[in-house]
Amino acid sequence: MLAGMARLSQLSRSVAGRVVLITGAASGMGRATAHLFADEGARVAVTDLDQTKVDSVVAEIKGVGGEAAGWTLDVVDPGRIHEVVGLVQSTLGDIDILVNNAGIAIGASYEQPDNEYEPQWQRAMDVMLTSHQRLARACLAQLRRNGEGRIVNIASTEGLGASRGTGPYVAAKHGVIGLTRSMAVELGALGVTTNCICPGPILTGLTEGIPEAAREKFARRRVPLRRYGSPEEVAQITLSLALPASSYLNGVVIPVDGGMTIQNT
Ligand code: NAI
Repeated sequence: MLAGMARLSQLSRSVAGRVVLITGAASGMGRATAHLFADEGARVAVTDLDQTKVDSVVAEIKGVGGEAAGWTLDVVDPGRIHEVVGLVQSTLGDIDILVNNAGIAIGASYEQPDNEYEPQWQRAMDVMLTSHQRLARACLAQLRRNGEGRIVNIASTEGLGASRGTGPYVAAKHGVIGLTRSMAVELGALGVTTNCICPGPILTGLTEGIPEAAREKFARRRVPLRRYGSPEEVAQITLSLALPASSYLNGVVIPVDGGMTIQNT
């Protein structure tokens, strides 16, 4: 009977008290994501390659009253993944949210000889695709325990189309979208949602090497908003996907690109 029903259910728009593990969290979008979740009251596991950089993000978060702990984690190391997932659980509590964010720039042309091309291909797959499933599977027992587990995979607009000279990166990012859909289909039944963000051009460690004039020209021509995005603008969407209230969103691929991928001319 409609009249007797609550006007709305009580789906929460807060991640306060939730435990989030973020890879590649010492720089760029990962760091912004760590800060944003901490500001929202989450308990943040900051992981990245370099201990000093990890420690400094943890210190920044704690400096403004947030809750965080940090570990070195090279996502290509399966043993370390299991170790860190266990350490996060014993230090911060069961993991509720996994953000697969770590990534690297890869330049490679199909005309390169095998000994140059193959290592780039392997590296792209290891860091940006294989690691995602390993992290997800290692966290799964924790993610599924309360029916509100969340996985957010960071792909790229290179997962939707392709730029020249970066085939392994493009293939890995397209793979992340396939992986997202496959996880969404299979893990949904376990109470874990999996969604994917495709950032466009964002000002981070990955893109700071591009000369400013080239960045501006690109943004003017290609991005309706006519600028690069900030790491925070991506982190905000990651947060939205991780909310308890986003409970019926599963398997989607969201470009966060200022409209780049829908602009024809
Ligand atoms: P960033 O370079 O600022 O941060 C990436 C972080 O990942 C670094 O701290 C790095 O140490 C870490 N990392 C690299 N290899 C790792 C490994 N093996 N294990 C653990 N951590 C590792 O770059 P950004 O831009 O913040 O990148 C984050 C994600 O966003 C990446 O997956 C990247 O491919 C993706 N992306 C970036 C775009 C951009 O324009 N900046 C556009 C689209 C996607």
